Amino acid sequence: MAELRSRRSNLAVPGSNPRFLEKAKGLRPDQVFLDLEDACAPLAKPAARKNIVAALNEGGWGPKIRAVRVNGWTTEWTYRDVIEVVDGAGAELDCVVLPKVADAGEVRALDLLLAQVERANGLDVGRIGIEAQIEDARGLVNVSAIASASPRVETLVFGPADFMASMNMKTLAVGTLHPDYPGDPFHHVLMTILVAARAAGVQAIDGPFLQVRDVDGFRAAARRSAVLGFDGKWVLHPDQIEAANEVFAPSQEDYDHAELILDAYDWSTSAAGGAKGSAMLGDEMIDEASRAMALVIAGKGRAAGMSRTSSFTPPQA
Ligand code: GLV
Ligand code: MG
Repeated sequence: MAELRSRRSNLAVPGSNPRFLEKAKGLRPDQVFLDLEDACAPLAKPAARKNIVAALNEGGWGPKIRAVRVNGWTTEWTYRDVIEVVDGAGAELDCVVLPKVADAGEVRALDLLLAQVERANGLDVGRIGIEAQIEDARGLVNVSAIASASPRVETLVFGPADFMASMNMKTLAVGTLHPDYPGDPFHHVLMTILVAARAAGVQAIDGPFLQVRDVDGFRAAARRSAVLGFDGKWVLHPDQIEAANEVFAPSQEDYDHAELILDAYDWSTSAAGGAKGSAMLGDEMIDEASRAMALVIAGKGRAAGMSRTSSFTPPQA
């Protein structure tokens, strides 16, 4: 997996509304993405670009990852979005979110444009990352090539609303279960995106849950993607932030357990511990595969800023 910058909660903030941009600075999601795409009406896009440049340059975002969602390549807006935002505030920008990515060429086109605008502004070429939204049938078919289209790609993001429209799904309830389907209608999509992300060493992010007052419904949807292995989920409302941060971080018990497994495995494979490939941790047998799983949980906990509440004591010989 690429360097694990915690992205448990990814807050959508409409670029057209300076009040929302200001308010978002005080909230505590792991990431914000300032939106020039679907949350901005066509006539509002030019002003939104200016609002976003000003908000990024003013600072005050704390440790949050700062992303901007530009418009997709089938519109007339993408190039201007990238040029205005990166010319105006490239040094303050971590990632560009590219929506409705249908094939790897779209990622490469953004990579090339970014490189030129970075070069023109004396910025490090390649520092700004790309998050690719998978939102239609073509994007899903090409997802592996999209994930490895550029070293800038940091995440694959599922866009359930556009995806449902693209598939002619007969429901308006976004990203959730449906009484007519005996299972999770999004399982295949989520798993395909996740496998492509892991194969390319990038993060996998689940998309929005639109019923913003239904925090329990949000939590249930987030749990489903978290248990598969997703790294985080979009949030559309302050009430969803804490729920996402909690669901996508390991529990304290699992985090402590993972750190203990890592210590116990290190010790048992060392000369002092007898150079053993497998060992007992209490009643549990651990080996290299346990270590691999523990590294994931410990990595998620560390990225979320968790602290251990227990420590490892080597068993007496
Ligand atoms: C997000 O962009 C979605 O389409 O769900
Ligand atoms: Mg979308």
